[in-house]
Amino acid sequence: MSSEKKLVVAPWFYKTWLLLVDPIAYMQEIAKLGDFVKVRGVLGFYLVNHPELIKLVSKDKNDNINRDNIIYNRLKGVSRTGLVTSEGEYWQKQRRTMNPLFTPRTVKSFIDKMVAASLLRVDHWEKLCDSGEVFNASKEMDRLTLEINGACLFNANLKHVYDDLQKSFDYINRYMEMIPLPIISESWFPSPSNIKLKRTVKKVDIYIDSLIAERKGNLDDHDDFLTALMRAKDEETGESMPDWAVRHEVLVAFIAGYETASTALCWAWYHLHDNPDVEEKLIAELTDVLGDRVPTLEDIPKLVYTKMFAEEVLRISPSAWLNGKTTVEDDEYWGEKIPGKSLMMIILPCIHHHQRYWDDPEKFMPERFLPNSVKARDPFAYVPFGGGPHVCLGKHFALQELIIGIAVLAKRFKLVVEPDFKPVASAGISTAPKYPFMVRAQRRT
Ligand code: HEM
Repeated sequence: MSSEKKLVVAPWFYKTWLLLVDPIAYMQEIAKLGDFVKVRGVLGFYLVNHPELIKLVSKDKNDNINRDNIIYNRLKGVSRTGLVTSEGEYWQKQRRTMNPLFTPRTVKSFIDKMVAASLLRVDHWEKLCDSGEVFNASKEMDRLTLEINGACLFNANLKHVYDDLQKSFDYINRYMEMIPLPIISESWFPSPSNIKLKRTVKKVDIYIDSLIAERKGNLDDHDDFLTALMRAKDEETGESMPDWAVRHEVLVAFIAGYETASTALCWAWYHLHDNPDVEEKLIAELTDVLGDRVPTLEDIPKLVYTKMFAEEVLRISPSAWLNGKTTVEDDEYWGEKIPGKSLMMIILPCIHHHQRYWDDPEKFMPERFLPNSVKARDPFAYVPFGGGPHVCLGKHFALQELIIGIAVLAKRFKLVVEPDFKPVASAGISTAPKYPFMVRAQRRT
């Protein structure tokens, strides 16, 4: 592959068949042609696979970028005015109001809730150890992140609605993974899947609205994201959010954070299983820092290897695999005129495995995230949470959630992966394991 900074045009229909069978492998084939590749056809796009270009698209030229494309339009039926799909001044105002609710300092207030949700899994896994049952780790991680999100985002005792909510969120995720056929997939088109989506979203809306109504009389009794949103005021205008905006943002945070974090935790278990040397170092740190305790606020900065482990999971198996942004007006990238309405694709499994930025990229090595290695690398070669003004709102929340989930569960249990498990990532809304991730839990002695 050429290291020249120039646009390469892929031949017509270049390996298009692969796009239908394995979209991630297809993108990896396109990336072999160059760091900036124009792909022509029904789904015309530009692959941007160089940190400099990723920075241009995500940050420096963000004013000339929007999310009006086949990927984001699919999310609009769920997110509506939420941060994930809103644009322009409205997005700016909402983001300005919500940024302070998700700083590294503010997410620390969620530690105890994250630990409590992880301990619920500990109780359940104790039983699974006794019975020796083989179980699907993906379902367990879904449950864990659902419980964490439920507790931190709206502090509700969700026990009685979990199964119902999980079904709703599972459908919303499945919907977003459907092939984005033009028109049919626009949220206004009355296809059976869109009608079912509307019904499902309505159900979740009713649930969130009931929480908002209940909260109105006793805001002081709660310390969750919902309450913070209801209290939040725009620092410029002093306005609070109307109820419908609160509802959309809570739902978006829930959806954006549930499956992505669950997927990261699944791959964390897989990489632990696959790398006994890493497992040994991780357990040594957890034993040293925590002994038999669960993690507290003071422990988090000491869990250095655990954090690097989580970061390496998000490099080698990024939960979000594609980030598509659209140019608004004609613009120049690396001296090439790129027309307005062009789809610029950042494909995480490509840039995170790029030989130029990662030594031996297929090797799982948490040490890549030692401070000196991070300093020496272009920050836009590692974008599990995106970058620039749209960088993931829940980035610090998610990293903390991964550290706590791993610290509480991996300290107590080893998951033995069934020998016939094929570690293939799906190319849906997340890269969750494509095949059932069947495991057996063993107590660590
Ligand atoms: C491992 C877990 C997660 C991963 C890998 C992840 C990844 C991402 C990525 C790649 C983006 C797109 C950024 C861009 O366009 O440049 C994003 C946006 C977003 N994420 Fe996350 N996310 C995670 C967890 C969360 C959580 C827990 C929350 C909320 C509590 C959240 C809320 C959001 C929101 C609201 C946006 C839209 C931001 C905007 O456009 O202003 N995410 N996330």
